[in-house]
Amino acid sequence: MKLVTNAAKHGAGQIDVTYAHDSGIHKIIVCDEGEGLPADFDPAAADKSLGMRVVISLARQLGGVLSSADREDTRGSCFTVIFTGNA
Ligand SMILES: Nc1ncnc2c1ncn2[C@@H]1O[C@H](COP(=O)(O)OP(=O)(O)OP(=O)(O)O)[C@@H](O)[C@H]1O
Ligand SMILES: [Mg+2]
Repeated sequence: MKLVTNAAKHGAGQIDVTYAHDSGIHKIIVCDEGEGLPADFDPAAADKSLGMRVVISLARQLGGVLSSADREDTRGSCFTVIFTGNA
């Protein structure tokens, strides 16, 4: 949810939310078509901004991790929450 509002706020174009499940690994991926991530963006620097802090703590609650990347296929960025569902 926070990732979608970020995609709307900081990104542009289409927002894609994808869920994938394979061998007990769940993935939720939120992609946008905006400018991509700021050059100095570090999702692990969670103490800096409230929105990312919420996302990271929710991912942790699921026993998961958050990762972020610029897109290779087009402009924009993707945020992925990966968790096993056993937490
Ligand atoms: N989809 C995105 N595309 C580009 N930059 C992003 C994206 N999502 C987050 N960011 C960058 O990460 C920063 C931190 O995001 P965060 O959600 O913590 O703060 P915010 O959205 O600015 O404020 P808040 O969520 O607290 O209202 C943003 O200010 C922005 O620079
Ligand atoms: Mg935000």
